[in-house]
Amino acid sequence: MATRDWEALKVKVMQWIKEAADQLRASLSGPLEVSEKSAHNDLVTNMDRAVEQFLIDKIRSAYPDDKIISEEGFGDAADTNDGVLWLLDPIDGTLNFVLQKRFFAISIGVYENGFGKAAFIYDVMSDELFHCLSGKGAFQNDKQLLRLTEVSIDDALLDLSATWLKPNRRIDENIMTDLVRRCSGTRAYGAASLELAYVAAGYLDAYFTMRLSPWDYGAGLILLNEVGGSYSTAEGAQIDILSKTSVLAARPGLYEYMAAHIRDQVKQGKFIREPS
Ligand code: IPD
Ligand code: CA
Ligand code: CA
Ligand code: CA
Repeated sequence: MATRDWEALKVKVMQWIKEAADQLRASLSGPLEVSEKSAHNDLVTNMDRAVEQFLIDKIRSAYPDDKIISEEGFGDAADTNDGVLWLLDPIDGTLNFVLQKRFFAISIGVYENGFGKAAFIYDVMSDELFHCLSGKGAFQNDKQLLRLTEVSIDDALLDLSATWLKPNRRIDENIMTDLVRRCSGTRAYGAASLELAYVAAGYLDAYFTMRLSPWDYGAGLILLNEVGGSYSTAEGAQIDILSKTSVLAARPGLYEYMAAHIRDQVKQGKFIREPS
């Protein structure tokens, strides 16, 4: 396989994202076709499908041998890390897209033989692109992101959703209570790719969620890697980029603290169940 020109790929992807984002912004001035998937708050729109198809056409015409895993079904049924794999979410934060018309992103992560090589997370309405090529630094538009430093739990902002307060089948709802009491505050934005990008940028100190798909976290993990962020499943295992999984991502030090807290809670009898 010839060596890939990643700088050239970056230029192409940035242009595709710009065109896709123009379509998304334009769509918000007219009616959207919205339908429910698994529940009343699990939505898909005509634009999720249109943007996925648009981006996949671009990827396939530029890189016909690559595989694509994407949310709305136009990608491939990839079951191996071999070669170049794109993890694509055309709209991350569809509920925000429909209800708020803001705080949603296009998320694209590109892996080669399992290693994260390029990441693009574009907040469409605020015109903020978080991006990196591995080993070349991570950026928010043109501003380089700093390497992440440590923060104590007392000074930390944790991104946790309301799921943590409700009885649910994946995790004991009391598992985070002590940390929530101690930390500086909690936030939840409803678009996983942006929340991971915010950890990478230092706007959030940790993000913890029990069920994400490869297209949700693919780009975010590459960005985190580039700035020295730490991440794993809830139980501390390495994330398999082909699987649905829990994700704990945080600044170094805080990550170890939170992972130890979770281990301790499990020892005390609280449960965690990975998605299947
Ligand atoms: C969802 C968002 C949300 C996360 C869900 C994802 P979607 O993605 O990232 O924040 O909690 O697990 O499925 O469906 O809007 O692309
Ligand atoms: Ca969805
Ligand atoms: Ca998503
Ligand atoms: Ca989506």
